[in-house]
Amino acid sequence: MDHKRREFVKTTAWAGAGVALTAALPVLSKAKPMKILILGGTAFLGPQIVEAAVARSHVLTLFNRGKTNPGLFPDIEKLHGDRNGDLKSLEGRKWDAVIDTSGFVPRLVTMSAELLAPNVKQYVFISTISVFGEGLKAGTAEDGPLATMPDESNEEVAKYYGALKALCEKAADKAMSGRAWNVRPGLIVGPGDKTDRYTYWPVRVARGGDVLAPGDGKDPVQYIDVRDLASWIVLGVERDLTGTYNATGPAKTLTMKAMLDAIKKGVGGDAKFTWVPTEFLDKQNVAPWSDLPVWVPSDNGEVGFTQINCAKAIAAGLTFRSAAVTAKDTLAWFKTLPVDRRGKLLAGISAEKERELLAAWHAQKAK
Ligand SMILES: NC(=O)c1ccc[n+]([C@@H]2O[C@H](COP(=O)([O-])OP(=O)(O)OC[C@H]3O[C@@H](n4cnc5c(N)ncnc54)[C@H](OP(=O)(O)O)[C@@H]3O)[C@@H](O)[C@H]2O)c1
Repeated sequence: MDHKRREFVKTTAWAGAGVALTAALPVLSKAKPMKILILGGTAFLGPQIVEAAVARSHVLTLFNRGKTNPGLFPDIEKLHGDRNGDLKSLEGRKWDAVIDTSGFVPRLVTMSAELLAPNVKQYVFISTISVFGEGLKAGTAEDGPLATMPDESNEEVAKYYGALKALCEKAADKAMSGRAWNVRPGLIVGPGDKTDRYTYWPVRVARGGDVLAPGDGKDPVQYIDVRDLASWIVLGVERDLTGTYNATGPAKTLTMKAMLDAIKKGVGGDAKFTWVPTEFLDKQNVAPWSDLPVWVPSDNGEVGFTQINCAKAIAAGLTFRSAAVTAKDTLAWFKTLPVDRRGKLLAGISAEKERELLAAWHAQKAK
């Protein structure tokens, strides 16, 4: 497994984002209002959880440093502090549940979970499918092999993101004695995602013309719309879920071709997909995931990461909006960004690089 191919497993990370608040909930019976604390709440997933929870009449408190989007949610209680050493504002308060979106190292998860354990019923830890180790098999469920690290006191998140998140899950379980709910999302996408990883595709497809589509179209892809994830997290709080759940989508296998067709349906335009084989892209040093996001070829040793088994979460109420709607809404959000930001996508290949690759591929085919 070369470095680039492995990279995505370690980096489906925390990269934050702006805010587009369009949470949509499945039709549910009325909930009993609950008091919910979010450790975080103001970047990408957090705001969508706030929106989904408020729509269900829950009462929110956000704990953070006040640095990220400080003006957001003026009507919601904010407690300021720092997970790394200043938890004073959480002392002596009670909540029904705490949702930890900002835990990356076990020491800090232990600190907050031990402090809150007597005063909350449930501790929701937002983990990741990157907790799984290398060479994952397709269809892996929650009991799959976990990533490890040589020294568990090392806190280099960029290097040991998955292994550290696995240790955070254990830390939450231990401090809460069976009252922790560990949620493992795959790539989180949709309005507000500042990383552009998924966004690259709706933006590129909307531009139209000859679109470089990697592989043969049959490679499976997985991701979850941030709004579906947020709604389900709120549902899991209402149902007091505990244990560990993989949480990515969709419900049934989505191939790269089906994803691109759905994106075209969602964003419109005249895009024509030219499928360029993996071997050709390999020779041109174009890497799956990092150069062409979301895509992982099936002959890649990491194919398990695009075929994670989420049956447990689906049985517990996780639902998915259509791939076309996610694409349409993501593009609509992207169009609200300033022009200079829209001019430089943070993921995917440049238009110039794509033109070169397509020209080289067409020339080779013509030989
Ligand atoms: N993006 C993906 O594709 C993906 C995939 C799988 C899993 N995940 C997981 O999903 C979660 C999503 O994170 P998000 O950024 O969207 O959550 P978020 O709750 O929207 O934002 C992160 C929050 O953490 C706060 N924060 C950061 N450092 C802090 C500190 N030292 N003390 C107190 N608060 C702090 C930030 O506010 P301040 O800066 O003001 O403190 C911000 O409110 C992460 O746990 C990530 O591992 C993401």
